[in-house]
Amino acid sequence: MKILVLGPGAREHAIVKALLSEATAHEVVCAPGNAGIAAAGVETPALDYTDPAAVLEFVSERGFDLVVIGPEAPLVAGVADPLRAAGIPVFGPGEAAAQLEGSKAFAKRIMAEANVPTGRASKVSNEAEAASVLDEFGAPYVVKADGLAAGKGVLVTEDRDAAIAHVATWAPHGEVLIEEFLDGQEVSLFFFADGHNVRPLSPAQDYKRIFDGDEGPNTGGMGAYSPLPWVADDFVQQITDQVALPTVRQLEAEGTPFIGLLYCGLIVTAAGTRVIEFNARFGDPETQVVLPRMTSALSEYLLASAEGRLDTLGDPTFSDDVAVVVVVASEGYPAEVTTGREVSGIAASGELADAIENAHLVHAATKLDEEGRWIATGGRVLGVVARGADFGAARAIAYQGVSQLSLEGGQHRTDIAERVA
Ligand code: AMP
Ligand code: GLY
Repeated sequence: MKILVLGPGAREHAIVKALLSEATAHEVVCAPGNAGIAAAGVETPALDYTDPAAVLEFVSERGFDLVVIGPEAPLVAGVADPLRAAGIPVFGPGEAAAQLEGSKAFAKRIMAEANVPTGRASKVSNEAEAASVLDEFGAPYVVKADGLAAGKGVLVTEDRDAAIAHVATWAPHGEVLIEEFLDGQEVSLFFFADGHNVRPLSPAQDYKRIFDGDEGPNTGGMGAYSPLPWVADDFVQQITDQVALPTVRQLEAEGTPFIGLLYCGLIVTAAGTRVIEFNARFGDPETQVVLPRMTSALSEYLLASAEGRLDTLGDPTFSDDVAVVVVVASEGYPAEVTTGREVSGIAASGELADAIENAHLVHAATKLDEEGRWIATGGRVLGVVARGADFGAARAIAYQGVSQLSLEGGQHRTDIAERVA
């Protein structure tokens, strides 16, 4: 197949690697991609990938059998719609269904209609309303800005004044939700969706906070592991029946079918599993540990989703081994980031200079300078992905890889997957 993957980050790098590892050879193009993807020999043309017209023109010129939209920005911008209207198979929801991620209020309404278990939430528009709802729900307080806010819209705090200040900051930009605090382990569970049916992937856990022990501010994700040995045997089936399928069927009934990756962000509470958020795309960095374990061909599931025929495929299969990813971030992340520093320990191929069996790199924000040095260009820079028979082995390999990389001021967590090793 001739496949176009849209997006610039580590998630797209993981998707491209999975496609290239299939038994059948594909022609894969990643636009705009990044330097790590290019170093692996993949074509990475410049493209304004959030502009629906620009993407349609590029796809029409080049002719692709499948377009896979990686990040949320192009989904929410409606990049999928004109492609789908032109009859091109697209993995990624249209603008209307992408509101499941783009608007937390929209997601809450769909969950209410579909009877999907989630925390209580109340919309507030000013500080006085916020104060009364915060007191009704009690501490810890959860305050969420409605739209896409690049991870900065959510505040979880014991500090009532900080919660009210967060409302004051975000209320001028749109709706703000106050949510019931849900206590428990978080799970990211992905589903392929074809507008009517769903097929589950293997669950993963993301580490959202910047520091060890889940301290410090939220980030895009500092590491992940898969599978989750501690979930119940029927966990995936339960979430399929109670969350993913009802949500997809509700969107279908509303005339806005969800075709793409339904990311269920869950908390396993004492009272049962609840949805804390939906995303309309693969999670980053969870994808980096889920896809390497997938033994079914990713492209077949992407295409079957795009063509509305997941009913012709069974559930995808996964290997019994485990995977861990540790993210290396620049100094200052997730606040003001210092970029432009050299990262040593990476070969011209984009992989570890000193190769380690069962380890590979994914690039999030790097470039190669004229002298052939790798330079960090963003907050999350690289991920070291490791596979092993168990979490102790995979962790050891991942951290051996991290120890070979050197970035002045670089940050990484030392406790990824420690709780399961
Ligand atoms: P979100 O952007 O909705 O994923 O929220 C970011 C993070 O805030 C989540 O990964 C959780 O760690 C935390 N969080 C969000 N909503 C809640 C909630 N209702 N209760 C507890 N923690 C939450
Ligand atoms: N790792 C969290 C996300 O992709 O939203």
